[in-house]
Amino acid sequence: MPDSALTAVVDDEIWTLDRPVWFSGVRMRARTTVVRLDDGSLLLHTPAPPTDGLTEQLRALGPVRWLVVPNCWHHLGAPAAAAHFPDAKVVGPASALNRNKALKLHMDIHDAQFGEQVPEFEALPLQGVPFWDETVLYHRPTQTLLGADIVLCAGAKDHWTLRYAARITGFYERVRVPPDARKKIPDKAAAARSIRAMLERPAQRLIVGHADVIEEGWRDDLAQAWRLEGVKV
Ligand SMILES: [Fe+2]
Repeated sequence: MPDSALTAVVDDEIWTLDRPVWFSGVRMRARTTVVRLDDGSLLLHTPAPPTDGLTEQLRALGPVRWLVVPNCWHHLGAPAAAAHFPDAKVVGPASALNRNKALKLHMDIHDAQFGEQVPEFEALPLQGVPFWDETVLYHRPTQTLLGADIVLCAGAKDHWTLRYAARITGFYERVRVPPDARKKIPDKAAAARSIRAMLERPAQRLIVGHADVIEEGWRDDLAQAWRLEGVKV
């Protein structure tokens, strides 16, 4: 499969692209999600560095208008994508700027302006976990929650290094909070309120950065993962 292959999740509205990324000695799947907005333009969530193949596919779908950095970790491809799509606005948390000097934001993801300018999305900040500073987006037209690191899950299709790490740390074929964040939830009550807000959305699926798309049972999976970390949802 070419590295630029988009997979349709919701026909004509949502696609995903997975690419390999090495992180802490394991090869993970890192996902870019493409959403076609009501005006026909595109929003890229966790933009990948653009390749010729990806650019061509995106051009066929619509103009790229938004590049979303959903937390302070998922910024790696954003500067290259911003250079490639100069008409797109980059939205993300200010905390990501400290981690990537090449990153420039047009808008803070915590700013209410984002919801005003892209009204089909509701921003749901995950409070209590400054380690990520993540904001999950709820896409109303397709009833889809778009997150990055709030949970992950490895499976048979993953690289052996990740399968090995996942078996040791408990996320092989199980939806879990990523191990590197488990001891970094200083305000569990705030995290619980945030996760509850996500659970209350009438979503049909949860898309995150490092797992297959979670459809049936996403609420149970998300709630159980956080309960295991002492977050009472
Ligand atoms: Fe991630």
